[in-house]
Amino acid sequence: MTTSTEIRLAARPHGTPVPTDFETVRTEVPQPGPGQLLVRNTLMSVDPYMRGRMDDRKSYVAPYELGKALQGGAVGEVVASEADGFQPGDTVLHGLGWREYALVEARSVAKVDPSRAPLGAYLGVLGMPGLTAYAGLLRTAEFKPGDVVFVSSAAGAVGQVVGQLAKLKGAARVIGSAGSAAKVAYLREELGFDAAFDYHDGPVRDQLKAAAPDGIDVYFDNVGGDHLEAAISALTVHGRVCVCGMISVYNATEPVPAPRNLAQVIGKRLTIRGMLVGDHGDLRDQFHTEVAPRVADGSIRYRETVLEGIDQAVEAFLSMLRGDGIGKTLVKLG
Ligand SMILES: NC(=O)c1ccc[n+]([C@@H]2O[C@H](COP(=O)([O-])OP(=O)(O)OC[C@H]3O[C@@H](n4cnc5c(N)ncnc54)[C@H](OP(=O)(O)O)[C@@H]3O)[C@@H](O)[C@H]2O)c1
Repeated sequence: MTTSTEIRLAARPHGTPVPTDFETVRTEVPQPGPGQLLVRNTLMSVDPYMRGRMDDRKSYVAPYELGKALQGGAVGEVVASEADGFQPGDTVLHGLGWREYALVEARSVAKVDPSRAPLGAYLGVLGMPGLTAYAGLLRTAEFKPGDVVFVSSAAGAVGQVVGQLAKLKGAARVIGSAGSAAKVAYLREELGFDAAFDYHDGPVRDQLKAAAPDGIDVYFDNVGGDHLEAAISALTVHGRVCVCGMISVYNATEPVPAPRNLAQVIGKRLTIRGMLVGDHGDLRDQFHTEVAPRVADGSIRYRETVLEGIDQAVEAFLSMLRGDGIGKTLVKLG
C-alpha cells in the first residue's frame, strides 16, 4: 500500500463552488494488479468542465460521485507496473488527477516524452486545450485565411492557442477579450493579437464594435452570455460561431436568457455550432505535427499559472474559475 492524499467532492456546489464543497483525505492506494500501473502524479490540470461534473445532471460525461476523489488530466511517473510496455520511470498522461498517487489501467494512459516538451504542455498547449483550439477553429468554425476572428477568454488555456493559430493561418485580424489589464497586455504584446479588451471596461458590444468596425467572420465562444450576444451583432453574413464553452453560466442557479438578438441568425445566415474535443481525436496527430514544432520554435507561445501541492488543488480550481491566472492553470504535485 502507498499512502496518498486525494481531493474528494464533499457536497455538490450551489452556484460558485466554495472550499467546503471539497475534502482532503489521506488514503491507501494498493499495488497494481494485472494491466495496471501505480503512478506518482507530478502535475495535474484544473479545467472549467470539472464544474459541470460537480452537478448531478445528465451530460456528455458522468457526474463526479459524492465522497469519491475527483478526476481530471494529470501527468506522472510510473512507480510500479504490471502492464506490458510500461516500466518504472516512464512518464504518462492519464485521467486520474486530484490525487498524489493514482492506480490506473495501462490501456487508458498515454506515454509522454518529457524531453520533447515541458510536462505542462501535455496538459495545455499540446494537450486537451490545444486540441480544442485547433479543432474548434479549423473544423467547427471552418476558419479561412482572411477571416476576422474574435475569441473570448482569450488569455486562457484554449483562447491563447486559438488567437495565435488564427494569426499564423492568415487571419485578417484577431481580437480577444479577457478579464484584466495584464491579460489584455499579454494578448497584444506577447501573442500578437491585433486588438484586445477587458470586458469589465464597458459593454462587450461596444468594445467589440470599436475593435472590429467592419465586423467579424468567426467567433470562438468560451464565455456565452453578453459575449455571444455581442458577437451575433458583430458577425458578418455567413459568419460562423464555434460554441466551445460558456463559462459565464457554469455557476448559474437559474436558467439564463438566450441572446436577445438571436433572430439575426436568419438574415445573416449564421452558423452556430457546438463542439466537444472528444469528437476530434482523429485530428490529434495532425495537431501535434503542426503545433509541436511551433511551440518548440516559439512561434506559438503560452503561459501557465502553477500552484504547488495537493493542498492547493481546490484553490487552483477556484482561482481558475475566477480568472486569477494567465494561461493554463496547473497544480504541481510531489
Ligand atoms: N468543448 C470542449 O470540448 C471544451 C474543451 C476545453 C475547454 N472548453 C471550454 O473552453 C472555455 C475555456 O477553457 P479553458 O480551459 O481555456 O479555461 P481558461 O480560459 O484557462 O479559464 C477560464 C477563464 O474563464 C474566464 N471567466 C470566468 N468567468 C467568466 C465570465 N463570467 N465572463 C467571462 N470570462 C470568464 C476567466 O478569465 P478572465 O480573467 O478572462 O475572466 C478564467 O480564467 C471554457 O468555457 C471551457 O468549458 C471546452
